[in-house]
Amino acid sequence: MAVERFRIVGGARLCGEVKVAGAKNSVLKLMAATLLAPGKSTIRNVPEIVDVEIMAELLTRLGCSIERGKDFVTIDVPVAPGHRAEYDLVRKMRASINVLGPLVARVGQAEVALPGGDAIGSRGLDFHIKGLESLGATAHNEHGYVIASAPSGLTGAEISLEFPSVGATENLLTAAVLAKGRTTIDNAAREPDIVDLGNFLISMGAQIEGLGTPKLTIHGVSQLHPTDHTTIPDRIVTGTWAFAAAMTRGDITIHGGRAQDLEVPLEKLASAGAIITSTNDGIRVRMEGRPQSIDVATLPYPGFPTDLQPMVISLNAIADGDAIVTENVFEGRFMFVNELVRLGAQINVDGHHAAIRGIEQLSGAPVAATDIRAGAGLVLAGLVSDGITIVEDSSHIDRGYPHFAEQLQALGADVTRESVD
Ligand code: UD1
Repeated sequence: MAVERFRIVGGARLCGEVKVAGAKNSVLKLMAATLLAPGKSTIRNVPEIVDVEIMAELLTRLGCSIERGKDFVTIDVPVAPGHRAEYDLVRKMRASINVLGPLVARVGQAEVALPGGDAIGSRGLDFHIKGLESLGATAHNEHGYVIASAPSGLTGAEISLEFPSVGATENLLTAAVLAKGRTTIDNAAREPDIVDLGNFLISMGAQIEGLGTPKLTIHGVSQLHPTDHTTIPDRIVTGTWAFAAAMTRGDITIHGGRAQDLEVPLEKLASAGAIITSTNDGIRVRMEGRPQSIDVATLPYPGFPTDLQPMVISLNAIADGDAIVTENVFEGRFMFVNELVRLGAQINVDGHHAAIRGIEQLSGAPVAATDIRAGAGLVLAGLVSDGITIVEDSSHIDRGYPHFAEQLQALGADVTRESVD
């Protein structure tokens, strides 16, 4: 596969309209959750991103048949799915781990490769494993795989998470729906993605209370049925467009963007000087002058999302004033700061705090995307840099932002994709 990069000529004010597709972090989990019922489930509002293809491949290897349309996917789940998720797929995409809960619950066993570290820090699985053990499964690591087994089925339990982990909440929720009796999950994650997954499961016949709160109560049922569901819009993509408008002093109408999923980031943007209004199907973000700097601490939902942290650091790099950004979710997430410094940003990192002194303008240079969100943050920085910025490894960005370069062009940015031999 040819390696691609983005070439950005800075200086454009982004103006116009964009449409936000379904949420990556929701649709991948819904795809994994179809394993819970034999038969054909359809998921709509599916974004055109490579991670959807990776999840489709994983499900195919588990015996499912997949039909992929432009914005939907239909998954035909067999009566007896396989139970092994191989390392070659799991290493490409951590959301592969989301087949663990459904497989243990439905098949009674799962062998899922350990995803390993990635560019945003270590990402444990201990909460997933402890929770499955509470539900009566045995689980251990062997030869790089989590091997979990519950041949006589799972039994409801009271689970309390040390941290409201998104992935652990999802795996335990998708396991508990088929467990015997009642399960409670305390300190559960409350992200809109969890609510979407819960509603998907309810439409399959699951009984779940407390979605969107820190306590989930699940009454297990003996079987679920296939469903047809439309995914929620991607709040991180929406937030990225909102930051792009504010940073470039632009005016973007984001169709499909849901303000209620982004209350804290939009409040922060308003305090930076952005004018945010609701439209009939989304939000409009405008900015006239230079943004004011904004202090931010990332937190689990409803706090400021860690996935928008690179965008807020990029904004602060060109804002009026000094800011502190504190990362509380992934310890490795400041790695991309070194790239931003190559563009002239004045940033000092001390542990999980970044102190940023805003300057008038960044200066274009070659940089590398280390993960999806860091890549998007660097593109935004390139848009407000003097001259040319090359963002290498743009395939990371394409994993989370369908047609990003093309959408930027439509808003007036000078961004082109280049193939690298
Ligand atoms: C998901 C999102 C990611 C987002 C993150 C937080 C997907 C595919 N990814 O990741 O984009 O940034 O939520 O909103 O949906 N932890 C443990 N042990 C565990 C599980 C987690 O220590 O068993 C720690 C992690 O190392 C991390 C923190 O908990 O420091 C949060 O992780 P988690 O909420 O689980 O994130 P993911 O589900 O991996």
